[in-house]
Amino acid sequence: MKKIAIFASGSGSNAENIAAYFASKNTAQVTLILSNRSDAPVLQRATRLGIESVVFDRDTFYHSDKIVDLLASHHIDFVVLAGFLWLVPDNLLRAYPDKIVNIHPSLLPKHGGKGMYGDRVHRAVIESGDKESGITIHRVNELYDSGSIIAQYRIPVTSDDTPETVATKVHALEYKYFPIEIEKEIAKLR
Ligand code: GRF
Repeated sequence: MKKIAIFASGSGSNAENIAAYFASKNTAQVTLILSNRSDAPVLQRATRLGIESVVFDRDTFYHSDKIVDLLASHHIDFVVLAGFLWLVPDNLLRAYPDKIVNIHPSLLPKHGGKGMYGDRVHRAVIESGDKESGITIHRVNELYDSGSIIAQYRIPVTSDDTPETVATKVHALEYKYFPIEIEKEIAKLR
């Protein structure tokens, strides 16, 4: 049984969906949820799900080994970023080479990079007149949204779409495919 840690900065609906997916599996379990925001709703979800959660600040994350040590002491095998808005520091990347994945709510390299998150992404899709959008699941490196791509899934965008309707369609893709792609990556760890 592999152990998954999830980093999230906000709502955490993906974190909850991933935890629920693995709850019925014997391949992996979500055993730790970490957030850089003490008011993030993901923390309430963690409590409700009975998953241990930890809040950390910028100094701890970027200028100490405390988070790496915490993951090691929890025997974490794989790390998932689900709506986590900070760059991952080198010590964490080195501790989990090719074992940290992120989901981005567009077809990267389109509409990625610093500051491109949440509804900003979907607004950019509409403003660009894109005919499709989707999700990108990728490995994490030292830059925003630029690690190697694991999988992309697409939805059509029409002239009737708004940022809200695109967001709804993209979220559906996230819930359907992110856990499955995580499971496939974890299967490679053995
Ligand atoms: C998702 O759209 C994900 O693609 C992006 O941040 C959002 C997180 O949503 N990286 P939630 O916190 O999981 O509800």
